[in-house]
Amino acid sequence: MALRKRLKIPRAPRPVRRLPQALIIGVRKCGTRALLEMLYLHPMVQKASGEVHFFDRDENYALGLEWYRSKMPLSFKGQITIEKSPSYFVTPEVPERVRAMNSSVRLLLIVREPVTRAISDYTQLRSRATPSAPALFSPGHPLPDAAKPFEHLAITPDGAINVAYRPIAISLYHAYLHRWLEVFPREQILVVNGDQLIEDPVPQLRRIEKFLGLEHKIGRKNFYFNETKGFYCLRNDTTDKCLRETKGRKHPRVDPAVVTKLRKFFVQHNQRFYDLVGEDLGWPE
Ligand code: A3P
Repeated sequence: MALRKRLKIPRAPRPVRRLPQALIIGVRKCGTRALLEMLYLHPMVQKASGEVHFFDRDENYALGLEWYRSKMPLSFKGQITIEKSPSYFVTPEVPERVRAMNSSVRLLLIVREPVTRAISDYTQLRSRATPSAPALFSPGHPLPDAAKPFEHLAITPDGAINVAYRPIAISLYHAYLHRWLEVFPREQILVVNGDQLIEDPVPQLRRIEKFLGLEHKIGRKNFYFNETKGFYCLRNDTTDKCLRETKGRKHPRVDPAVVTKLRKFFVQHNQRFYDLVGEDLGWPE
């Protein structure tokens, strides 16, 4: 008999990889990375480091749950594992696949005022399409879409809103949320206000701790405002950390008439979203 057993020494708990009990499902450019990093300040939270894209990419989903588990961090019993892949929100197959894994998984949906989100999305797409690919910019070549002004992409030549333009389409939150609500009860989805997470993260994090059944641990001591970055940065006992420069980019100036037109267009769509979530997020009209 092993000495440990004979002396009745309890085994030290060993961390193992667990499937996530909570997912940040989107929406892209609404603060999904900030939210994950902020939650990771909690001692009972472990996070998958990259976006795993298990549920939205067929080639990954085909590898099965054991593959997904292998992408998860080690965690101790009682800790919550969280993964975020923002494209989960907009991919039709995902809600059903998530339910097949765990019908009581907790879902976090972070949203932001839709026109600002669309401009943020455009800013990211444009930054990926710029000068590193000089051939795209040589004379005689038409400008790639991402390099065109936002106004030309969001509004069609006849003055209509271009709902086929991805950054606009993704901001139509109700069009995707209704699919999730066909599969999960409303109480299983927490809507996080991304604009408020930027302004003052602590109250949003309190709501999330409660939703996840965690003790309140994340507080003002965990944040400091970085004037240069213009955003809150994170702090724990050992480190201070700001998000990378790809988070919190400067947005290009957009013609205010276009912003107003888009805000008007979104009024009825926002109302449909408020009706689905049972809450008015107060986005400007
Ligand atoms: P912008 O770069 O347009 O400002 P995501 O991680 O989903 O791609 O979201 C990126 C957005 O997170 C950023 O969009 C930024 O506004 C927001 N954000 C929220 N809190 C932040 C923080 N503390 N630091 C940096 N960005 C933050």
